[in-house]
Amino acid sequence: MLTLLGIPGALRAGSTNRLLLAEARQAFGPATQTEANLRLPLYDGDLEAADGIPKAVQTLADQIAAADAVVIACPEYNKAPPGVVKNALDWVSRTKGAPWKDKPVALVSAADGRGGGDRSQFALRLMLTPFHPHLLTGPEVLVADSSNAFDADGRLKDDRYRKALAELMQALRAAAG
Ligand SMILES: Cc1cc2nc3c(=O)[nH]c(=O)nc-3n(C[C@H](O)[C@H](O)[C@H](O)COP(=O)(O)O)c2cc1C
Repeated sequence: MLTLLGIPGALRAGSTNRLLLAEARQAFGPATQTEANLRLPLYDGDLEAADGIPKAVQTLADQIAAADAVVIACPEYNKAPPGVVKNALDWVSRTKGAPWKDKPVALVSAADGRGGGDRSQFALRLMLTPFHPHLLTGPEVLVADSSNAFDADGRLKDDRYRKALAELMQALRAAAG
C-alpha cells in the first residue's frame, strides 16, 4: 500500500484547499493517508539553537520522508504562498536526511481569484526547487473562484477540474510506484 501525505497550505478548518486535498486523495486511489499540520512555531534561529528542531517540525519531516508521494494544496495570499507554507519549508530544511529529495510531489491550488492561485503555485514550485523533489509538471490544477467551486457536500462542481485532478493524481501514483 502506498502512503500519500497531504499538506494543506491553509490553517482554517473551512479551507477550500482542504476540500481540494480531499478530492486529490480520492483521485489518488487506495493509499495509507497521512496529513501534515503546518501549525508550527515561526522559524527562529535562537529557538533552534536553544531547543533544537521542534517536535512538530520533526514529525512533519518524518511524514515527508515516510511518504511515497506528497500532494500540497496551497492557497494564494497576495500572489504568493501563505507564510505558513514557507515557514514549514524553512524548518524542514533544518532537519537531517533531505526528506524531499526525489520525492514525487504534486501541487494543487484553490483561490478566489480568476487565476486559481497560479502565481502562488508557480512561486511554490520555485521554493521547493532547492530540495530536489520529483515535482510533477502537470496537468496544472488551479481552482478559480474557489468559494463557489465546491458543492454542499464539498465536492468539486466542475468536471474539467475533476478530470485534470484525476490525471495529475494518476501521474503522482505512477511516479510513486
Ligand atoms: C491575506 C490574503 C490574501 C489573499 N490574496 C489573494 C490573491 O492574491 N489571489 C487570490 O486569488 N486570492 C487571494 N485571497 C483570497 C483567497 O483565495 C481565499 O481566501 C481562499 O479561500 C483561500 O484559501 P482557503 O479557502 O484554502 O483558505 C487572499 C486571502 C487572504 C486571507
